[in-house]
Amino acid sequence: MKLLIVNGPNINMLGKREKEVYGNRTYKNLNKYIHEYCKNKNIEVKIFQSNHEGEIIDEIQSTYGVFDGIIINPAAYTHTSIAILDTLKAVSLPTVEVHLSDINKREYFRKHSYISQACFNTIQGHGFDGYIMAIECLEEYIQRANSCKNIILE
Ligand code: DQA
Repeated sequence: MKLLIVNGPNINMLGKREKEVYGNRTYKNLNKYIHEYCKNKNIEVKIFQSNHEGEIIDEIQSTYGVFDGIIINPAAYTHTSIAILDTLKAVSLPTVEVHLSDINKREYFRKHSYISQACFNTIQGHGFDGYIMAIECLEEYIQRANSCKNIILE
């Protein structure tokens, strides 16, 4: 299984930004945590971060025909970006949305996610573990989709 993990603006500031919300651990710690998990599970993973909407769109477009699934923490673009939503719909890969914090328990403007419409699941409020939960969720989803394909082909 080959996964792309996309992180939006300011996720690279983990460990420095709003520690009471996002904790003390850094973005480097997050990458190490995910890479170690994936190595043990034999999952190929690319982790991408950008503060720019267009770069995120280019990266998602590049998954077409290359990756099996996407995990995305669009950060503030969650609440604003129809363009990222459209790109996810265009590449049409199984996608899970992740948020470190629980966006439903924060400011009013964080409650709405444009991105959810292109995702089969959203995991929020579990910090770093949310990314691992998303990987497990995608793995199960992809395995089920493949076994369905096999039944249809038989
Ligand atoms: C976030 C939540 C967003 O509302 C916020 O803009 C972020 C991070 C999270 O992971 O909890 O930058 O996506």
